Amino acid sequence: MQRFAPSSPPRERFRRRTRADLGACVSLMAEVHRVDGYPSPWPDDPVAWLVRPDLAGAWVVELETGVAGHVALTQSGLVTRLMVAPWARRRGLAVRLLGVAAARADALALRPSLQVVDTRSAAIAVYESAGWSYTGACVDVRGRRLLRYAASARIPSAPASSPRDEIPSLR
Ligand SMILES: CC(C)(COP(=O)(O)OP(=O)(O)OC[C@H]1O[C@@H](n2cnc3c(N)ncnc32)[C@H](O)[C@@H]1OP(=O)(O)O)[C@@H](O)C(=O)NCCC(=O)NCCS
Repeated sequence: MQRFAPSSPPRERFRRRTRADLGACVSLMAEVHRVDGYPSPWPDDPVAWLVRPDLAGAWVVELETGVAGHVALTQSGLVTRLMVAPWARRRGLAVRLLGVAAARADALALRPSLQVVDTRSAAIAVYESAGWSYTGACVDVRGRRLLRYAASARIPSAPASSPRDEIPSLR
């Protein structure tokens, strides 16, 4: 009788975003925008929205099927541009992307924070399940209520990268 090896879990690779990823990241954005309305509004220049000039870093998670998620960190410690493809959700990718950005903020001695529109319940659930703390609310120029969160004092330390730009799985 033929025996089959048990199937191994799909490989998840967290790594720095490169210029070569931007096309895949715009496709990811378009899919997330279609399903969740994020980003809102859709930017005139999606690449410029991803490559804003004040970034301290940006990362993707890649599965065998391609880029499945994205996050960025600004030089002031704001974690932003978090999105996970609809087909890759509820497997902890967003929480681990947040961990990657928070670890980089920690390495830069920044206190990571983020803002989320109060109607984005999935994102709010992620931030709370990842241990981020609500710090207050404000109203933006479009009249939307934004909730502010800060990372807990204990941020996971940045994993050693080998090769240089690759981040071992944080699970
Ligand atoms: C928010 C988003 C990034 C979450 O991505 P994800 O990889 O599916 O999230 P995770 O798997 O890391 O979720 C971790 C936990 O958060 C909570 N959570 C995540 N999505 C949820 C949902 N839709 N409803 C309720 N709880 C949710 C759960 O507790 C989950 O753990 P569990 O799956 O073990 O129950 C994704 O839904 C997304 O891209 N949304 C659109 C873009 C967006 O809103 N970005 C944030 C802008 S501020």
